[in-house]
Amino acid sequence: MANEILQIQNIKASVGEEEILKGIDLTIEPGQTHVLMGPNGAGKSTLGNVLMGNPVYRRTEGTILFEGEDITEESADRRAARGMFLSFQNPLEVPGLSLEEFIRNAIRQKTGRPVKIFQFKKQLAEAMALLGMDESYASRDLNVGFSGGEKKKAEILQMLMLQPKFAILDETDSGLDVDAVRTVSEGVKEYQKKEDGALLIITHSTRILESLKVDKTHVIVKGRIVKSGGPELVDEINKNGFEAYL
Ligand SMILES: Nc1ncnc2c1ncn2[C@@H]1O[C@H](COP(=O)(O)OP(=O)(O)O)[C@@H](O)[C@H]1O
Ligand SMILES: [Mg+2]
Repeated sequence: MANEILQIQNIKASVGEEEILKGIDLTIEPGQTHVLMGPNGAGKSTLGNVLMGNPVYRRTEGTILFEGEDITEESADRRAARGMFLSFQNPLEVPGLSLEEFIRNAIRQKTGRPVKIFQFKKQLAEAMALLGMDESYASRDLNVGFSGGEKKKAEILQMLMLQPKFAILDETDSGLDVDAVRTVSEGVKEYQKKEDGALLIITHSTRILESLKVDKTHVIVKGRIVKSGGPELVDEINKNGFEAYL
C-alpha cells in the first residue's frame, strides 16, 4: 500500500464543547489537487487546522497518516518539518518580523540547516515577480498594513519558497479582486509544476479553480463529507450551490 501523501480516517474534532468534524475520511496521493467546498461553518477551516495540528482544534477520534506514517499526535512544528503547509484564511500580522525573515526562519526550521542567502534572495525575487509583488514587501513587517490581496499573495509566496509536499490553501481566493485571483492562481499553478506536490484547496468560490488542474472535489456539510467526485463537481456546485446537500 501507501504511496498516499495523506490519509485520514474517521477524524472527529471539537472546538470547546461542540463537535465540529463528525468523521472525515480523505486520501490524497502525491501530485493530486483536491478541492474542498462547503457552506460557511461546515468545518473546512477546522479540518485544515486539525491536519496541521493546531491545538485549539481538539481531535477526539481518528488517525492522520502522512507518507504512511502516523502523525496524529505530532506537533504543528513537526508536521511543518515533514513538509505540510497551511495557508491561513486570515493571515496574522507580525510587527517586528519582516516577510523575508519570516520565510527564511521557516525554511531553516523545516530543513534544520542555515539558508544560503544568495540563492534564497534570488528565489525570493523570482517568486515575488511571479506574484506581482513589489520587492519592497520583502523587508516590510509580515502582513502589517498589507491589503487583503497582499496578505494572500504573501501566503502563496511562503508556499512557493517552502516547497511543501502537501499544502492546504484555506480560502486563499476569498475577498480578492479578479486580477489578484488570477495572480494567486498563477502561483498555485507554479506549485503544481512540482511533480509530487499535493494540494487541498478550500474554497467556496470557483474562480480560482478555473485555470487549475483539479483531480477530486469533496463537499463538506455540517462536519461530514457528503459527496466526492471529479472536477465536474465544481461546476455543478457553481451552478446549483449547496442546496441539494443540506
Ligand atoms: N476557534 C474557534 N472558536 C470557536 N468556534 C470555532 C472556532 N473555529 C471554528 N469554530 C466553529 O466551528 C464551526 C466550523 O467553523 P469553520 O471550520 O471555520 O467553518 P468553515 O471554514 O467551513 O466556514 C463554526 O460553527 C465555527 O463557529
Ligand atoms: Mg473557513
